[in-house]
Amino acid sequence: MKVSFAATRPDGAHALAIPVRGEDMLHDRLQGFGEAARTLAVRSAEAQRFEREPAAIAETFIDEKDAARRLLLVGLGGKADEAGLYEKAGGALTARLLTSGETRLVIDLTGLPFDARQAARLAFGAAARSWRYDIYRTKLGRKQRPTLEEAVIVGAPEGSEAEWAHLAAVLNGLDLTRGLVTEPSNIIYPETFIERVSASIDGLGIEIEVLDETQMATLGMGALLGVGQGSVRPPRLLVLKWNGGGSAKPVVFVGKGITFDTGGISIKPAQGMEAMKWDMGGAGAVVGALKALAARKAKANVIGVCALAENMPDGNAQRPGDVVTSMSGQTIEVINTDAEGRLVLADAMTWAQREFGPEVMVDLATLTGAMIISLGHEYGGLFSNDDGLAGKLYDAGLASGDKLWRFPINDAYDKMMDSAIADMKNAGVRDAGSITAACFLHRFVEEGVKWAHLDIAGMVWADKAGALYDKGATGYGVALLDRFIADNHEG
Ligand code: BES
Ligand code: MN
Ligand code: ZN
Repeated sequence: MKVSFAATRPDGAHALAIPVRGEDMLHDRLQGFGEAARTLAVRSAEAQRFEREPAAIAETFIDEKDAARRLLLVGLGGKADEAGLYEKAGGALTARLLTSGETRLVIDLTGLPFDARQAARLAFGAAARSWRYDIYRTKLGRKQRPTLEEAVIVGAPEGSEAEWAHLAAVLNGLDLTRGLVTEPSNIIYPETFIERVSASIDGLGIEIEVLDETQMATLGMGALLGVGQGSVRPPRLLVLKWNGGGSAKPVVFVGKGITFDTGGISIKPAQGMEAMKWDMGGAGAVVGALKALAARKAKANVIGVCALAENMPDGNAQRPGDVVTSMSGQTIEVINTDAEGRLVLADAMTWAQREFGPEVMVDLATLTGAMIISLGHEYGGLFSNDDGLAGKLYDAGLASGDKLWRFPINDAYDKMMDSAIADMKNAGVRDAGSITAACFLHRFVEEGVKWAHLDIAGMVWADKAGALYDKGATGYGVALLDRFIADNHEG
């Protein structure tokens, strides 16, 4: 969706949106309309029981210069600082208009005490909510097709366009992530994931490195390779490097990129298995974040590492009980081949730490079903060996709307991953499944590295539309990582 800023309302066809806060006098917000139109708008808002609740909408048509102008009053509630308020309001407008027949949305802020950031966030919400992926729908009816193409923000304060430029970059990253997450696994597998990402970030100045299965074997990545060996689609390690901040030590993001998770020999039930096409949502968020950072030329050094593999049952697949040796040298008893995410992450984390010597490493993964039991679809799970880092990620979650909630890790949980035959096993009992998974990963964090693990199993995909996304891929994590870098690692 195209976004622009203007001083006055444009001519021509458009739907007009006017934000209203709890304390605003509706009549005042409708200045510039004739008395009859104002009265109609106020009465129809009352008739719809519009109480200016955050993102609530009252819709009416008024007569403006002999045209039927669609007028949307959008609520901003009573508290100006509610998290995600402006994004939600923008998103609600788009959701209402996307297939309405309107092609242009004009949001008039004239006379409202918006700051530049808030105006840009409103535009971001509107644009983010417009994303759809219709390439496989060959029979969409005329009325199901999106019509809305453009949003014009009128009367925004100075500096809004600069704030928008930042969020437009985040949106670019979000689009990449959502596309990857949405694509089925016959289209996106390790090699095509890399092709898609390379094409998408071309020209942004991101350096790309790819390790294939032979190189990974030489490096001793037995844990990652064990997961991939049951698939005809070979695993890959994709590395993106954004060098925007001189010689500072890089922040490393590591993403779980299982392009399909059948469970392997510990095969999953058929019901709902199609969801496992988005088991690469962690890797998707990492590449989207790198794209966003590069697109806005972030003044930071950030590296994204994606552990890409397909987890399939096959004559050559690994078996429950197999023992593999990870790149770290530690051995792992593979109790359950469906606990594959931690296996690929273990080697990716070891490699990233040895290669780049980061002070900060954050991994993102759709790691455990137990995470969804704990937090549902409201928060990602946050696990960390460092309170400072955990706090920064928590704050970035609040500021970006990609919220996080922290869980404990400690020796008692860690002991549950001890094995009778190897250094550790990859699956324990069901109790505290997300925490023991984090403890497993913790064993691969090297001395002095501040590390956080984000279990985003409940956040990557939505079965119903949210404020900023339709049903389907949410793009969770992109705005979070962008905010984390912007607030802590730039200047
Ligand atoms: N990718 C799954 C976790 C998952 C499940 C994400 C449902 C999103 C929705 C992961 O690889 C997995 O299968 N985890 C197992 C671990 C268990 C075998 C220890 C799980 O959660 O059941
Ligand atoms: Mn699994
Ligand atoms: Zn998985």
